Amino acid sequence: MIREAISSDKFEVLKFCQNTFSWGDYIKEVWDHWISEGDLFVVEKNQPIGICHAVFYPTQAWIEGIRINPDFRRQSLASKLVKNVESISKQKGIPISLMLIDTENEPSLLMAKQLGYKISETWKFYSLQSQKNNDFEISLGNPFQKNKPTHYVKSWRWVPLNEKEISLLISQNNIVYSDTTNNKSVAILGESEHFDNTLIVTLFAGSESDTKNILLFLQNFGAEKQYKRIQILSKESFSNFNNLEHRLTFHLVQKLLS
Ligand SMILES: CC(C)(COP(=O)(O)OP(=O)(O)OC[C@H]1O[C@@H](n2cnc3c(N)ncnc32)[C@H](O)[C@@H]1OP(=O)(O)O)[C@@H](O)C(=O)NCCC(=O)NCCS
Repeated sequence: MIREAISSDKFEVLKFCQNTFSWGDYIKEVWDHWISEGDLFVVEKNQPIGICHAVFYPTQAWIEGIRINPDFRRQSLASKLVKNVESISKQKGIPISLMLIDTENEPSLLMAKQLGYKISETWKFYSLQSQKNNDFEISLGNPFQKNKPTHYVKSWRWVPLNEKEISLLISQNNIVYSDTTNNKSVAILGESEHFDNTLIVTLFAGSESDTKNILLFLQNFGAEKQYKRIQILSKESFSNFNNLEHRLTFHLVQKLLS
């Protein structure tokens, strides 16, 4: 009943992945990428009626894009897809699985709870409009001395931030920070691997003035590089910055698999 997806499943799957959320759905934009990445699973009854995608890292499994055709919900199909990923993870010796769930998505939160997932963090998603300016002063390099974050957001996946990843990000000038107050703000930048012209930023916010510095830099960077969208993920709340709009809030949920 559960198998790896193939390209030709796309037509049937996209039929039930159009208006999943109030804002639509993104499966049509990621389908081809996920097929080539692998570990895209479908559940079928004659034809595909549900999907989910997994990414296996040595230290965690990431589960995303769970969708069940509305005509087949409450039959434990999503639960089976998640359990399938968990059992592959266990076989690979991966200790934890994670997923991201909109704080207003009750069905999904209830499912995760029933499967034994616990909320580990809550993140806010903001969009920022590009705007040319030169009112900022930022630094490039390694801002993390003792307290390094455990994860950063790469193409909407919370991926482990280890020393190797930090070195790579620094060599690509993708870590910027502002440290004028001893309570620095840090941003990790990355282009989306799935959406055109989209800059994804993980923002670890310190003082208000350092955060403002970073946001002004990002606006200008977005304008110079002509990004269509700047998407910012942060655990902090920001209310008084022009052209920064809070869109959604998500819980990061996780389960120990051992
Ligand atoms: C969320 C979703 C994937 C659940 O799929 P599903 O196959 O219906 O889920 P399951 O049958 O495995 O449900 C498992 C448990 O979750 C809870 N649950 C699921 N849907 C629920 C709902 N609409 N209301 C209340 N509880 C719900 C229940 O506890 C359920 O167990 P029960 O049926 O024994 O009471 C499906 O509703 C869906 O595709 N929604 C739109 C896309 C989406 O939100 N994806 C998740 C993004 S993180």
